[in-house]
Amino acid sequence: MALHDFERYPLLFGPSPIHPLDRLSEHLGGARIWAKREDVNSGLAFGGNKTRKLEYIVPDVRAQGADTLVSIGGYQSNHTRQVAALAAHLGLKAVLVQEKWVDWPDSVNDRVGNIMLSRIMGAEVRLDPSGFGIGFKDSWTQAMDDVRERGGRPYGIPAGASDHRLGGLGFANWAHEVAQQEQELGVFFDTIIVCSVTGSTHAGMIAGFAGQDRPRRVIGIDASAKIEETRAQVARIARNTAELIGLGRELADEEITVLEGWAGDYYGIPVQSTLDAIRLTGSQEGVILDPVYEGKSMAGLIDLVTQGEISKSSNVLYAHLGGQPALNAYSALFTH
Ligand SMILES: Cc1ncc(COP(=O)(O)O)c(C=O)c1O
Repeated sequence: MALHDFERYPLLFGPSPIHPLDRLSEHLGGARIWAKREDVNSGLAFGGNKTRKLEYIVPDVRAQGADTLVSIGGYQSNHTRQVAALAAHLGLKAVLVQEKWVDWPDSVNDRVGNIMLSRIMGAEVRLDPSGFGIGFKDSWTQAMDDVRERGGRPYGIPAGASDHRLGGLGFANWAHEVAQQEQELGVFFDTIIVCSVTGSTHAGMIAGFAGQDRPRRVIGIDASAKIEETRAQVARIARNTAELIGLGRELADEEITVLEGWAGDYYGIPVQSTLDAIRLTGSQEGVILDPVYEGKSMAGLIDLVTQGEISKSSNVLYAHLGGQPALNAYSALFTH
């Protein structure tokens, strides 16, 4: 099967926009940096990268006749917020297990931003004290069982919609979209920068670009502070997705690049380079990044450009994956 053989239920406005970040590029002294904006890709609760992944999962939800989406993430999960929006949009229920993935002292951490939006959209939000982990959890299995006991038909969507057979397809399609937009813009993005945590965003891109004629670098920036787990997860999902869409060859290890160095010590806790990247992008471009994901991947991009790892003649595409609602839970970071 090829990618276009998979059914896709449209949730996006269309191709997400690509635009240059010229003041930031000039400030860094070249390469030319562009952004592709998943943060404005949909009208469903501010969209983001999960909305794109979910386009390929909806047909399976419907085929199974489910009436309740069950998913999991941290208190400020962007993913569970997008699942809540999808449930509202499709007229389904949502049960969301929200774990204490981040030990962050902001007193409204479990009330504002993403979690508030999920409650507004009618999801059943279950707070759970468990810590960070992208694997399958008992609380999630319990939530599935509870739905069944009530007579409902649950459909489980794992953290980040990643560990799902179809989880990589959304960003394989992103790769296809980029190639079309390159034709229209008359540019070739030789380097892609993307934040990586549960893995299927980066993995889908790798599988999608691998089928194109012209090679390019697709660099993942780890934001989980668990680099070996992230690498293993990206590699596994990239290979599964490549097989699913009929790439017809094995992905080489060199095609799977996840870099560490910008996550700090913990998932969800920003470090100085994160805050500098957020302020720089905000003040140079009026583009807003969050402290959990995009601030960290932009910090990586800034260093790779300024250290010459990415050459001055490059056209770099920064995948902006969304995430701004979480900023509200980090009010203490920006008091001046
Ligand atoms: C805003 C944002 N950026 C990046 C990521 C990382 O994407 P993935 O989990 O597919 O690796 C996520 C979700 O985890 C996210 O919500």
